Amino acid sequence: MYYSRIVATGSYLPEKVLTNHELEEMVDTSDDWIVERTGIRSRHIAAEGETASMLAEKAVRKAIEDSPVSLSDIDMIIVATTTGDLVMPCTAAILQDRLEVPGIPVFDVATACAGFIYGLSIADQFIRTGHMKTILVVGTEVMSSILDWTDRRTCVLFGDGAGVAILQRSEEPGILSTHIHADGSYNDILYVPSSLPGQFDAEKLPYVQMAGNKVFKFAVKALGDVVIEALAANDATKADIDWLIPHQANMRIITATAKKLGLPMERVIVTVETHGNTSAASVPLALDLAIRDGRVQRGQKILLEGFGGGLAWGSAFITY
Ligand code: ACO
Repeated sequence: MYYSRIVATGSYLPEKVLTNHELEEMVDTSDDWIVERTGIRSRHIAAEGETASMLAEKAVRKAIEDSPVSLSDIDMIIVATTTGDLVMPCTAAILQDRLEVPGIPVFDVATACAGFIYGLSIADQFIRTGHMKTILVVGTEVMSSILDWTDRRTCVLFGDGAGVAILQRSEEPGILSTHIHADGSYNDILYVPSSLPGQFDAEKLPYVQMAGNKVFKFAVKALGDVVIEALAANDATKADIDWLIPHQANMRIITATAKKLGLPMERVIVTVETHGNTSAASVPLALDLAIRDGRVQRGQKILLEGFGGGLAWGSAFITY
């Protein structure tokens, strides 16, 4: 039995920054409302024609540049995204072409904001069983492409970006455990209607639809529960968590989760203020940022958690 360990991370944010004040010019909202309800002040927005695979390629190249891993070492690519370049093939295939690593298996995971945690969990299984040595896990989103920019309830919440982690076989534990869940009976409180010609409905345009309050309540409970589940599985306590890296949807959800766990905010990585909710990219973006600015150090224990459309949610407890 082997372990898998994160050996490299990378991220990329599009150049354009959209502030709350600029949104005030677009919809009936205010900087005060957005900051008070969400904690978001600005978000990055992809340029016209900039796709999820393009953002992902930049994040991967950054990860590779700063690590001993080379592209030829990669045995599999998993891409978590809700906003893939095409309906078919999967965005992982387009990324594979961009990276010029033909032949290896590639696929997308479509569990929205929980997608990166699902990807980590799948990669961990392949490495633990000895089936593969090095796996690239990506979260990449162009959420701006599925927002109704006239709907103030949703367009202020999201941003674009990509984050990646490269997992490699190790004798020492890196990923200690992963826990993934879903409840499809909530598929109607957070969704994007189909844009396929045969299923297109003029009454339901293909933009994010969300019953914010219901999602909020579910998220606080689910994110608290997965932390308890992860700690129990590892015979650990809250004191063992050096860093909590939660999905970055809303500052109030993050604060409520930390409070429930009795974790001081100094031990929580927060990017929502300047990234907004980047869906599947939010956790790897936050992880990469905290590694590069020196907060997250080798040997520390980190709890990563994701939550999103499905509803789907999960956690990964790791030693970095
Ligand atoms: N500016 C000003 N007013 C607004 C805005 C805005 N941008 N958006 C909504 N409002 C108004 C509403 O119209 C409503 O007005 P009304 O009372 O006159 O009808 C009022 O503000 C309150 O609206 P609520 O929706 O009740 O506000 P709430 O406090 O619930 O905050 C929010 C909304 C921020 C969306 C919150 O519910 C939330 O964060 N939910 C969770 C989202 C989440 O976690 N998503 C995760 C997954 S995302 C994914 O998977 C892709």
